[in-house]
Amino acid sequence: MVREEWNSQLGFLLAAVGSAIGLGNIWRFSYLAYEHGGGAFLVPYIVALLTAGIPLLILEYGIGHERIGSAPLAYAKIRKNWEWLGWWAVLFVMFGIVLYYSAVISWCLNYFLLSFNLGWGDDPDSFFFKEFLRVSESPAQTGEVRTPILYGLVVVWLISWAVIYRGVQRGIELANKILMPLLLLLITVLVVWAVTLEGAVEGLKAYVTPDFSKLSQPKVWIDAYSQVFFTLSLGFGIMIAYASYLPEKANITRNALLTAAINSGFSIFAGIAVFAVLGFMATTTGKPMSDVVSQSIGLAFVAYPKAISLMPGGNLFGALFFLCLVVAGISSAVSIIEAFIAALADKFGVSRKKSATMISMLGFVGAIIFTTQGGLLWLDIVDHFLTHYGLITVGILECIVVGWLFGTQRLRRHINRVSSLNLGVWWDLLIRFFIPIILSLIFVGDLYTELQKPYGGYSWTSLVLIGRDWLIVTLAVAFVIASRPWHTGHHKLEGRSGSSTSLSE
Ligand code: PHE
Repeated sequence: MVREEWNSQLGFLLAAVGSAIGLGNIWRFSYLAYEHGGGAFLVPYIVALLTAGIPLLILEYGIGHERIGSAPLAYAKIRKNWEWLGWWAVLFVMFGIVLYYSAVISWCLNYFLLSFNLGWGDDPDSFFFKEFLRVSESPAQTGEVRTPILYGLVVVWLISWAVIYRGVQRGIELANKILMPLLLLLITVLVVWAVTLEGAVEGLKAYVTPDFSKLSQPKVWIDAYSQVFFTLSLGFGIMIAYASYLPEKANITRNALLTAAINSGFSIFAGIAVFAVLGFMATTTGKPMSDVVSQSIGLAFVAYPKAISLMPGGNLFGALFFLCLVVAGISSAVSIIEAFIAALADKFGVSRKKSATMISMLGFVGAIIFTTQGGLLWLDIVDHFLTHYGLITVGILECIVVGWLFGTQRLRRHINRVSSLNLGVWWDLLIRFFIPIILSLIFVGDLYTELQKPYGGYSWTSLVLIGRDWLIVTLAVAFVIASRPWHTGHHKLEGRSGSSTSLSE
């Protein structure tokens, strides 16, 4: 089988940016920035970006390009007994993160439609929780499926399926070439509109006024590192798969720097729109800023709708805002599905069309649990466990497998051979020592907090059965798949460093 390739480096960059820019950039970043000292949050955020985000992104691009494979194949080509790590990542992301992520995109799609006639009424808070989601008392009570969310879900999976089905160039690359400029246009319109609202300045002040005293809190640093990890789609197996479609001549370091810069630039830019609108709302309602900023989900689905209702021409503003979220979300969802499809193709030689259809159907069915009345609670638990423990563990092990078993020096030589900006020994030190240590500290810190009191006030039973077991079951499946024989010859091919290898078998 000949491996698919990007048509151009720009196509690759746009696809990687499409994966990186997601729901997390728009509200998660803004909320964290506000909570952690406004402008001062940029300090830990940028430090985390430089010391962990960019070096790991270079690692993922580098290993995908050098080993020429999706995550399981890339690890299997380093050490056969580490193949499971690649499977585990793509499994819990595909059958975990993307399931609830697609449900949230469906909420956005619904809110896009609701915007036109401000369908959330006078009380967006109770509309969202009581009417739209009809949230149940506990995760054990899943209740009924919420049909509007289910319909949205069908649309999300149909679009993702169609994109993946068409392949790397005609599907993913083409979609991102359309969606990324569209996203930039939408966010620019929103920012320009938002800053002209009355009271916008108040909001922007809250956004950029630094409160440096917050920098002494470990939580601020932990959140900065986690955000950088999530926002660059690190540990998902996505960037590895995407880089494996690069041709031999590929500027790894420059692409990594550009991806990170565009992604963070987008977050900071989108934050302007978010805060200007909150400032407008604070001014209009005569409340202080701290009263109008709410927790992540509440920010997009409660605070924003409230502001939109108060705004002249708000329905158009709302439609643009939620469309922005849908576009950002779908290009990220597509990237995870592709990471899984690539792994299946590498291992079992399943054709793209077949696996795209099968996996999209399975994904859709799996996501239904998140459209039920218990959906929000399930989402909260699964998200907490997968992003806090799953992704972090993959990140630590990735540094060990690549840094110590494959060797950073060897990978660096390869990266420097194909890139315009050369990496120095500092990169080896970050990958081999600094990043695994910092991620381990975060892991231990999180675990410690976890054991103090049950997360989010859920029962231990729910947390164990839904959260912990989600990780354990996917891990078990990963070991099973890794133990199966390879049905393709890909694993026999070496990587690109040293002897020259040809891909066409
Ligand atoms: N980078 C994405 C974001 O910030 C994270 C993500 C990627 C989530 C792919 C889902 C799928 O939202």
